[in-house]
Amino acid sequence: MDILDLIVIGGGPAGYLAAQRAAESGMKVLLFEKKKLGGVCLNEGCVPTKTLLNSAKIFDHAKNGQAYGVMARGVTMDTKTVLQRKNKVIQMLVSGVGMTMKKNKIKVVYERAEVIEKTKEGFLVEAGAERYTAKYILAAPGSETLIPPIPGVAKALESGLAITSRELLELEELPGHLAVIGAGVIGLEMAAYCCTAGVKVTVVEMLDKVAGSMDARLSKILQKELEKKGVSFLMGHKVTEVNSHGLVCEKNGETKLAEADKILLSIGRKPVMEGCGLEHIGVAAKHGRVVTDQHLCTSAEGIYAAGDVNGKMMLAHTAYRESEVAVHHMLGIEDEINYQTIPSVIYTFPEFAGIGETEESAREKGLAVKTAELPMAYSGRYVAENADGNGLCRLIMDQETGCLVGAHLLGPYVSEMIWGIAALIDQKVSVEELKKSVFPHPSVSEIIRETIFKL
Ligand code: NAI
Repeated sequence: MDILDLIVIGGGPAGYLAAQRAAESGMKVLLFEKKKLGGVCLNEGCVPTKTLLNSAKIFDHAKNGQAYGVMARGVTMDTKTVLQRKNKVIQMLVSGVGMTMKKNKIKVVYERAEVIEKTKEGFLVEAGAERYTAKYILAAPGSETLIPPIPGVAKALESGLAITSRELLELEELPGHLAVIGAGVIGLEMAAYCCTAGVKVTVVEMLDKVAGSMDARLSKILQKELEKKGVSFLMGHKVTEVNSHGLVCEKNGETKLAEADKILLSIGRKPVMEGCGLEHIGVAAKHGRVVTDQHLCTSAEGIYAAGDVNGKMMLAHTAYRESEVAVHHMLGIEDEINYQTIPSVIYTFPEFAGIGETEESAREKGLAVKTAELPMAYSGRYVAENADGNGLCRLIMDQETGCLVGAHLLGPYVSEMIWGIAALIDQKVSVEELKKSVFPHPSVSEIIRETIFKL
């Protein structure tokens, strides 16, 4: 039997990119995927949500074009067509991944694969009736929706009253009233989509802020912007029961009912730990996540774990970088991951993007930081294109090094701007040096340059 260089388990962003990078470097690679290439990201996560959100954005613009001199009447959104387009986009991108695998001569086997043992030759992997051996294993089995242990949830899931984002992305007919548990990334993006499509949306969040650990000031503004669009928030409320009327929520001993005819569960995701046989090799796990180091090595030499399974930062772009770092380690190329310079984005409209430290996290770490902020309305392009926006740019500088350590933006297309700041933070370019960079005019990105001059 041929000994492979690498077996990749899981064909999501971590898995398919690891396979591609390894094959490009001359390694002999086999990729196992039990469902479809592309994983959650392409099939039921990042890509489908962005497709739906784009339709909602076009609908929103068409309905509210008066301020811009565009008078469209009787505009409607046809969710059936929206879903058809979403499915086409998925199909196109999934087949694109398949083509990339083919081009790189990576064999894709559509089977569930399990590591059985470590032998003299390498790791023995079983899939269907076949057995394979490889020098290295990269486990990238991903994550699944966390189902909250709230009374009534199991029954509600069974009856279809409660759903996860996977089912929501398949709904041809949207509910009249959606209650969302959790104002994190999924909760907010789905609230923005559904609310724009005409659904009454109530988001219940146990913390006092939306958007988790992202910049608190911008989180508040985003919440207000979504409220303006019609989303209701029950902040500081914990869901204690799910029943046929909706969600029973509690705050300071008082209960309230958030009525709904559909409930979205979006309290987080958890790594998929079973099924790829990591336990047979003694791979260490902690709090339900595979433990990895800065090279994505697990506790078992030769086994790497990239993507959501290590629970470090459950984002597709983190998975991409992790897979490259892991392959570099296999090849003996010096590299390591820096989670501090990975941006996060919430694709609501306005978009919310952040990188590095927030003012609070920087101070908690004892950094002497200086912050500067400017409303997006300082940008001519922003004013020209946003009749009533409240976008904001906040930058955080470490006074000791004179370099940026954090950036937080709320506004249109900030998802397309944040990578630049991520690169500057990563490269430790000083603020004084940054002042010499020229930004295109008119562009919303000029707000970053203006804010830099306030530091
Ligand atoms: P999340 O972790 O982002 O947010 C969950 C929220 O639920 C938290 O704010 C938490 O306080 C709240 N919560 C938990 N239990 C609750 C209860 N009983 N009652 C009320 N509130 C409660 O999780 P989410 O939104 O489900 O996202 C899952 C993962 O998917 C995240 O890791 C995220 O990074 C990833 N993702 C990323 C996207 C992006 O990059 N744009 C898009 C979609 C998902």
